[in-house]
Amino acid sequence: MEKIIDYKKKKNNVKLQFADKKYRVEVLDSKIIRFFSGKKSTSFSVTECEFPEPCWSLEEGSNNLILKTDDLMVEINDGFLVDIFDTSGKVICRDYRGKRQISSKITEETLSIISGEGHSLVDKSRELNIQVCKKMDGDECFYGLGDKTGFLNKRGYYYEMWNSDLPEPQVDSFVSLYKSIPFFIVLKDDCVFGIFFDNTYKTCFNMGQESDDYYYFGADKGNLDYYFIYGSTMSEVLSSYMKLTGTVPLPQMWTLGYHQSRWGYDTEEQIKTLASRMRSEKVPCDCIHLDIDYMDNYKVFTWNKKNYLNPKAAIKSLSKQGFKMITIIDPGVKKEKGYHIYDEGVAEGYFATTPKGKIYKNKVWPGDSVFPDFGKEKVRKWWANNQQFLLDMGIRGIWNDMNEPASFNGPLPDDVVFHDEERVSTHEKMHNVYGHLMAKATYEGLKDLDKRRPFVITRACYAGSQKYATAWTGDNHSIWAHLQMAVPQLCNLGLSGMSYVGTDIGGFGSDTTPELLLRWIEVGCFSPLFRNHSGRGTREQEPWQFGDEVLSIYRKYVELRYRLIPYYYDLFFKGEQTGLPVMRPLILHYQNDKEVQNKNDEFLVGESILVAPVLMQGETKKMVYLPAGDWFDYWTGEKVQGGDYFLRDAPLDLCPIYIKAGSIIPNFPVQQFIGEQNIENLILDIYPGKGEYHHFQDDGETFAYREGKYNEYKISLDDQNLLTVSLEHNGYEPVYKGFTIMWKGKERQVAFSGSSISLNLEG
Ligand code: GLC
Repeated sequence: MEKIIDYKKKKNNVKLQFADKKYRVEVLDSKIIRFFSGKKSTSFSVTECEFPEPCWSLEEGSNNLILKTDDLMVEINDGFLVDIFDTSGKVICRDYRGKRQISSKITEETLSIISGEGHSLVDKSRELNIQVCKKMDGDECFYGLGDKTGFLNKRGYYYEMWNSDLPEPQVDSFVSLYKSIPFFIVLKDDCVFGIFFDNTYKTCFNMGQESDDYYYFGADKGNLDYYFIYGSTMSEVLSSYMKLTGTVPLPQMWTLGYHQSRWGYDTEEQIKTLASRMRSEKVPCDCIHLDIDYMDNYKVFTWNKKNYLNPKAAIKSLSKQGFKMITIIDPGVKKEKGYHIYDEGVAEGYFATTPKGKIYKNKVWPGDSVFPDFGKEKVRKWWANNQQFLLDMGIRGIWNDMNEPASFNGPLPDDVVFHDEERVSTHEKMHNVYGHLMAKATYEGLKDLDKRRPFVITRACYAGSQKYATAWTGDNHSIWAHLQMAVPQLCNLGLSGMSYVGTDIGGFGSDTTPELLLRWIEVGCFSPLFRNHSGRGTREQEPWQFGDEVLSIYRKYVELRYRLIPYYYDLFFKGEQTGLPVMRPLILHYQNDKEVQNKNDEFLVGESILVAPVLMQGETKKMVYLPAGDWFDYWTGEKVQGGDYFLRDAPLDLCPIYIKAGSIIPNFPVQQFIGEQNIENLILDIYPGKGEYHHFQDDGETFAYREGKYNEYKISLDDQNLLTVSLEHNGYEPVYKGFTIMWKGKERQVAFSGSSISLNLEG
């Protein structure tokens, strides 16, 4: 085992010399320690964070080094084996000392036999060049890791980070999907911590699939570079990870409304008809998405003039009706001389090349296509400026797709030449950050050109993409298994920093059914990104496609979402500070409740709303679990004691929803689109108990809130039913003129003069 030969303590790190390797242990703060070995490189995720100079010490132990902060003690041993304790000496996390227990090596022969029948087999038995093996104490649950399929707790599974567009229906055994977020949270009986492995190459995460004695993560290339993040709660760990990689910026308020989309709205007429139907059927809607059909031959930054006579005028008239339009943009640029984007990119050397220097091509929607080299600042700037074409058309947001990057003619070879800024790099290194950098370019372009808060949606992500884009979970199918998967998948994305996420409601591939669509809207109306989208050739799934009864249930849930808009907006406002997601697994707030460690079929929105949706075909009753404490049935107002399971009737039109006692939930009246009404009175839906709530109000569009141009109302309720509302920060006009108080099924109006009011709700 390699011995520590020498070490040097610096300001915030210690450099260690082993026989033939150098390591660095860096103290970011008393609970965040970085372990590093490798070449100097810049992180794509940890970009803007600053920590005050930490207070720490280093001493020599009998045969190791001991690093101490106010919260942690880290022993650094020979072989760069590290053990981490709290200040009382309790073990938090230890490196595993034994050998990996590989039960059977996968041979070349096995691989070829299996692939002969068309199956693929992932070789998990390989030793990796960089491999960090942590000892398992037995009770670990693992959360996070981005958009992986399967269930909430990743214990017992193996995953890879390699952004992948796999059109087959996604199942639990998929090892990778569109996003690579190499961060996970480990929850044990007596402690919680997170690990962020900041390596953009293909990385592997074995969460006890190989053995119950250890879990490991690693890669064949890149650096050993991981952050150990300690905290007393999962929320604290997540907040620290978000401090490292950046929080989700407050979105424009309208983006939280309902989005209608379909690959196959081919013409201007179809879009107009869709919009007027949304209004005539009174299904609130803020946003319509234009898929690749709007382009001229799938050429990005062009418009199909055959099907759109006057897109600009059409978009303007739709905007008068309250609709905002979003367009899809793929990274693949059609290889066609005379097409300005292609010509400019060729002239300036903006596209990825083969190792021999020829522009690399593969096939995507437009046929032969080339790939912008987003790692270069110049290329990002060029791409950013191209957004002007869409802004000039009146577009209000950009949907970045196929940015894994997807390719139809086999995967891009590892050695395709990309850049990491001015450094020559490879596809192998840049693959997992390709979508991240495309989203960054798009975000920066919109921020610069439009001035409003950019609305970017991306399919591919890396850690930190939350700073630039919201994301959807890609091409799911209209199958019950995918509705079931939506809950843990969105919750794990939230625990991985991606708070603003959603699934294609109703399912993208395959044909939906009325029942599936309704059960999906009952989940979807709570997901931060609220979009119904479907694939070309599948059964149409707009809200009215299945008759009046389905339409009216669908409408009921879209309307519920519109009532809750201020609650969602507040969660985003707070999330920008705390890093906490909007949609949360129960375990995030009830980490000592074993019953919710594997709760895959319920979720929280913020801390106050618990949703227990029906996720099985034909079921009309739901086995609900509520954590300890008092809750209120949203539909009946009935008080329910938590801490156990019970059966709730859940006919097709009813999604069981529970509100935590003492909750204060701001509501808007139902509008057909956000901003339709001038809201002078805020509705406060109040549930008995003790509680405090902060509500924010601003222009809903610009960054002025960052200069203090917002109002913050503090609303509190004590156990004597005394409600107090005060304006804690007054930076925006107008202030609400009054509040509509909803209490135990009754409504009452109170005026507000701008400073503070108190009233006894029972009085
Ligand atoms: C991809 C996207 C999907 C989109 C389609 C056509 O499959 O994931 O959302 O509709 O491409 O652009």
